[in-house]
Amino acid sequence: MTTNSKNKEKLIDNFGRVIDYLRISVTDRCDFRCVYCMEEEMEFVPRAQLLTLEEIGTIARAFTELGVSKIRITGGEPLVRRNILKLFEDIGRLPNLKEVTTTTNGSQLSKLAKGLKRAGVKRINISLDSLDAEKFRRITRIGELDKVLAGIDAVVEAGFEKIKINSVILKNRNHEEVGDLVDFASSRGMDLSFIEEMPLGFIDEHDRAEAYYSSDQIREDLQQRFTLIPTTETTGGPSNYFRLAETGTLVGFISPHSHNFCADCNRVRMTCEGRLLLCLGQEHSVDLRHVLRSHPGDLEILKQAIRESMTIKPKGHEFDLTAKPVIFRHMNVTGG
Ligand code: GTP
Ligand code: 5AD
Ligand code: SF4
Repeated sequence: MTTNSKNKEKLIDNFGRVIDYLRISVTDRCDFRCVYCMEEEMEFVPRAQLLTLEEIGTIARAFTELGVSKIRITGGEPLVRRNILKLFEDIGRLPNLKEVTTTTNGSQLSKLAKGLKRAGVKRINISLDSLDAEKFRRITRIGELDKVLAGIDAVVEAGFEKIKINSVILKNRNHEEVGDLVDFASSRGMDLSFIEEMPLGFIDEHDRAEAYYSSDQIREDLQQRFTLIPTTETTGGPSNYFRLAETGTLVGFISPHSHNFCADCNRVRMTCEGRLLLCLGQEHSVDLRHVLRSHPGDLEILKQAIRESMTIKPKGHEFDLTAKPVIFRHMNVTGG
């Protein structure tokens, strides 16, 4: 369903939710292998099946003409895709867009921070689960903490409006670091979100139910050291935010298990093959690559396929950490 008042069209699903946020995964490849995201050995999409950067730009344009005002570029690791700055520049120029942003593991930021800023990226989210090089290596399997810290320094220096750290917290892996991560973010003027692990794809490195560490537990731990003041501030994402009385830092909690946020869902996501997924935790999807390649240059047909996709957006996810995963795709397919 869509509305068309004053030519300002909006995407609205069957539950009355307005979809104004698109997450685009530009690659499923990554230079890390985080234990909650991937298996050690992964098969990636053959390059020939990827949307080209031009095709991604066209789809982004179609969405912005349908009322999408925020686009986040994700992966895998988005910044390992060749010529990725060109896509940021093209999307950054779309007239109806308020914000182009990205979620990255930080490994490429030393070289790309300035280019991203020039392309119009104002906010950036960087994943960082540990400040201890060895633990960081264990969680990412192959990641180097120093490289990410240098990347974070580069974005701080480049002067982005907002930098947010994302930390997935796992019991007995990094749960004891939550206070240190808050200190790290505060000392650099960054915000931070703690994320509960979601059961996407099969992993055998740990038992997700055993590793579960709830947002409420994290909050209790933090309250030993900080004063957390609830706030209704939002970034248009699923984080539920608190402000630290001591430093003013925003600390968010993304809690798909303990505090479901699907009723306020405002987003859809597209995979690097052009599959439009209507929910992170379900398989309802539309093959936009097929639509685009069957009707090259026809933006109207593409927009109609997107409008129609709203009718199959499900009510929400049904994540259950104690059961076998029902979604076989890993998180690197959608970038969260
Ligand atoms: P902000 O714009 O800064 O609020 O970002 P964000 O939290 O929307 O995006 P980010 O890419 O930083 O994602 C942080 C975490 O939120 C990731 O683990 C995502 O998987 C998760 N997330 C984002 N959107 C959804 C969603 O619709 N459902 C679920 N279950 N998780 C989501
Ligand atoms: N559950 C929760 N968050 C995850 N991420 C990757 N895999 C998972 C998962 N299974 C996080 C990354 C990154 C964001 C895009 O998603 O750490 O911060
Ligand atoms: Fe790569 Fe991000 Fe997945 Fe880690 S969570 S393996 S950094 S895509």
